[in-house]
Amino acid sequence: MAQIEKVGVLGAGLMGHGIAQVAAEAGYAVVLRELDDATLARGVGKIEKQLARAVEKGRASQEDADAIRGRIEDTTDYGALAACDLVIEAITESLPLKLEMWKEVDGIVKPEAVFATNTSSLAVIDQAATTSRPTQFVGLHYFNPAQVMKLVEVVRCVTTSDAAFDAALEFARSEKKLAIPTQDKAGFIVNRLLVPYMLDAIRAYEEGVGSVQEIDEAMMAGAAHPMGPLTLADFVGLDTLGSICDVLFDEFRERRFARPPTLRKMLSAGWYGRKSGMGFYDYSGESPAPNPAF
Ligand code: 3HC
Repeated sequence: MAQIEKVGVLGAGLMGHGIAQVAAEAGYAVVLRELDDATLARGVGKIEKQLARAVEKGRASQEDADAIRGRIEDTTDYGALAACDLVIEAITESLPLKLEMWKEVDGIVKPEAVFATNTSSLAVIDQAATTSRPTQFVGLHYFNPAQVMKLVEVVRCVTTSDAAFDAALEFARSEKKLAIPTQDKAGFIVNRLLVPYMLDAIRAYEEGVGSVQEIDEAMMAGAAHPMGPLTLADFVGLDTLGSICDVLFDEFRERRFARPPTLRKMLSAGWYGRKSGMGFYDYSGESPAPNPAF
């Protein structure tokens, strides 16, 4: 397997911009590709803001921050990915869109490159099988915010070769991440456990066990979690949570993975959590306030 030097990242959204930043910080040349200029500029803006903050806090020199930014080529052109050794997709969590994207990218990127999906729950094999290189396909599942969270789940699907899997593990470790190998089972390790936990918090609210704030505060103070489960659901994105639980429910047919009615209604209202400005909390002001609907 060729040495990884140049990394392509597809999607500059919530996960993609962080994945690109982490790779550039680890010294890789990065090509960050988005569909349109406005979304690309938003993602790059977030990276620049994080780098400026690192300089301000004395965690990086201005020179280092400039070098990291300089290693990221941002583009809307798939052609810029041609020479990448590894391409990680972090586009919308929709299988048809991912398959369409891989068909295009597969014909452009050099044949020896490894492909990876940052999917949070879709089967890796479904994407691998659509490319001409199913042996060179893995899952690399980062956590939000990718710049901060230590873990990367490295997912082997039935077609993944040892060489591609080892290259992916080595890559994640070179980013100073804790790389945990896992199998291609819906939700992998973390979401299989974390998603039913967030769904149970919503059910606890529905059953009147506590208010939104009480449930969150209880889990922070009683279980030392950095965020309560409903704040976390808003942080992950309620639309993302909804699509992950649909995949898990389809796979396992267990009630614990089913969408609670409150989640269904919130999604119908367009409340996707922090990203849309409204979820279990209202994010339109200086700091999050309770959503008056609850
Ligand atoms: N991007 C980059 N850096 C960020 C960041 C972001 N979005 N948010 C916070 N940080 C950095 C800050 O710069 C800060 O570093 P500094 O003090 O050196 O500047 C550090 O993280 C701590 O941030 P804050 O002081 O602002 O806030 P907190 O101490 O509350 O930490 C948090 C924020 C790291 C997000 C923390 O609340 C946390 O760990 N929450 C839980 C997150 C979690 O569980 N993520 C996993 C979600 S599940 C998932 O992603 C899987 C997917 O498939 C659904």
